[in-house]
Amino acid sequence: MSEASDSAAIPQDIQQLMTSVAKSEGRLAPYGVSEHLAPRIEELSLVEPLAHFQEYGYAVIEDVAPPEDMDALREVIHRIADASAGPGKGELAPYLLGLDPAIDRIATAPKLLAFAEVSVGNGMRASQFLGSIKRQSAADAPDTGGAAGIHADQNWMPAPFPEHNCVVTFCVPCEGMTAEGGATRVIPGSHIHRRHPTPSESAGDSIAIEVDKGSVAVWDGSVWHGSGQRTIPGTRTVLHATYQRLYTQPIDDYTYLLQDDDYMSSAPEAMRGLLGADLFFGTATREHMVDLRKFGMSSLRSKL
Ligand SMILES: [Fe+2]
Repeated sequence: MSEASDSAAIPQDIQQLMTSVAKSEGRLAPYGVSEHLAPRIEELSLVEPLAHFQEYGYAVIEDVAPPEDMDALREVIHRIADASAGPGKGELAPYLLGLDPAIDRIATAPKLLAFAEVSVGNGMRASQFLGSIKRQSAADAPDTGGAAGIHADQNWMPAPFPEHNCVVTFCVPCEGMTAEGGATRVIPGSHIHRRHPTPSESAGDSIAIEVDKGSVAVWDGSVWHGSGQRTIPGTRTVLHATYQRLYTQPIDDYTYLLQDDDYMSSAPEAMRGLLGADLFFGTATREHMVDLRKFGMSSLRSKL
């Protein structure tokens, strides 16, 4: 078979990825934008938030979804949290991907996927999709004076963390979030240390990430952050949507969705990739070694 017919057999989207890898010689820098992705980053107005993210370890992405999508998401999170039989009843809605179109729509929102690709790579996987509901602290609750439970999200990884980020978390506040409403707090620039905070660093100055309804906060797996106290009535309803670099083990296991033909036939197109359908891990059997096509795809995507 000639080289020309070989390349003709490769789908155009894969050829674009190959061109991007050739352009960077397989050495795309941390925070680097692949050639194939650059026009989409411009179109989606992500240049500025990505620059902020690189400098401070977090960012706000504006206008990710219309208000009605946020209302639908809020309704789903409250419904599932209220129906929970676990200790998080009324406060936590775990393991959400694939349960409702409102969840999957946000999980595959173009702005989030493009941003996540820059942070954790083209072959990223869906990791954890968790809803949480925060209410006003009791009047006699101790004032935490800032952020509680400061940590880096890569907290099951040894330090120093890899220069190429492995975990990116999007915080989708259905009602928006303000400092007094219990917004997540972050220590800007702390991601450059690429390690867990010490106890004294955990008490450092943090700022609230304030976000309008329809916009989304995002932070790097290395940045130190924690929760803020809600001092006003009402709720802060958040979807925490986490994505991981392809070689790391996701928190939630959503691979069962790949076996559900009804679900897959109507799921957003990006879902197959997020569920790791084209990765080679676990593809060897007693009869044959790993799926070589998937091995090739994984090797390609790991460089983007
Ligand atoms: Fe966190």
